[in-house]
Amino acid sequence: MNYRHAFHAGNFADVVKHLALSAVILHLRRKEKAFCAIDTHAAAALYDLEGAQALRTGEAKTGIGRLRGLSGTDLPEALAAYLDCVRQEGEGRYPGSPRIAARLLRPQDRLVAIEKLPEDAAALRSALSEFRNVRVVEGDGYERLPGLLPPAERRGVILIDPPYEADDEFERAVELLAGAHRRFATGIYLLWFPIKFKGTADAFCGEVRTRVPASMSRLDIDLGRPAESEKERLSAAGLLVVNPPFGFEDEMNAATAILSALLGRSAEQPATIKFAAA
Ligand SMILES: C[S@@+](CC[C@H](N)C(=O)[O-])C[C@H]1O[C@@H](n2cnc3c(N)ncnc32)[C@H](O)[C@@H]1O
Repeated sequence: MNYRHAFHAGNFADVVKHLALSAVILHLRRKEKAFCAIDTHAAAALYDLEGAQALRTGEAKTGIGRLRGLSGTDLPEALAAYLDCVRQEGEGRYPGSPRIAARLLRPQDRLVAIEKLPEDAAALRSALSEFRNVRVVEGDGYERLPGLLPPAERRGVILIDPPYEADDEFERAVELLAGAHRRFATGIYLLWFPIKFKGTADAFCGEVRTRVPASMSRLDIDLGRPAESEKERLSAAGLLVVNPPFGFEDEMNAATAILSALLGRSAEQPATIKFAAA
């Protein structure tokens, strides 16, 4: 395993993924009843944006860095909540998905965060130590998730965010989601995926739709044609949301209407962030 999220933390794809996670958790908080959040591929949870890894790629600068000026009471609720989580970390630091979830938990809710890489699992444990109702599992998310479902609360969100390093990781992600959904059909699932070729991404989403009998939304973010020097870098990604909460697409559209201009390559080339049919 070579993937280290510290190189990519706070990039355009993280912004949209973490915004969606915040929107889902805010929805779960609307009912008093407790919920459980599970992060199958949690990574380190807290990132130094002035550190060597972040500076080497500069990805955070064109991601969360572009949102620094956003404020005001008229921001969509999910966007305001997400930005609040980021600001609470202080200048130059960025929270990963488990730390965002931990910040948004109420006393009755809980989080299980799984990370396989020992070094990142140790960082994760340290980054989450100040929060209550959080369990860190050093282990394999593919192996551990089935045993956690259904959660005792019977309400919850599961983020599946693999690094897609291995050739079979798309297939494993589909398998994981399909099995999880059989155990916990009413759960809300967020499955992140990179888009290198649109056809491959469409086939992947088609496979998920075939294997998972549930309502689903697909949100894509595309930065458009990269400059020659940026060709190796990811420029599009997607998120499949299984059992999206009522109003989720409207809430995301309100937020992404603000973000597309900010995350774009230039004023003339805004990012395309939209719900896709496939
Ligand atoms: C894309 S990162 C996760 C980012 C995080 N969810 C966030 O949004 O802040 C993927 C993480 O999965 C970890 N990982 C790789 N294979 C794993 C496995 N089988 N089970 C659990 N974690 C794994 C990697 O070490 C890496 O830290």
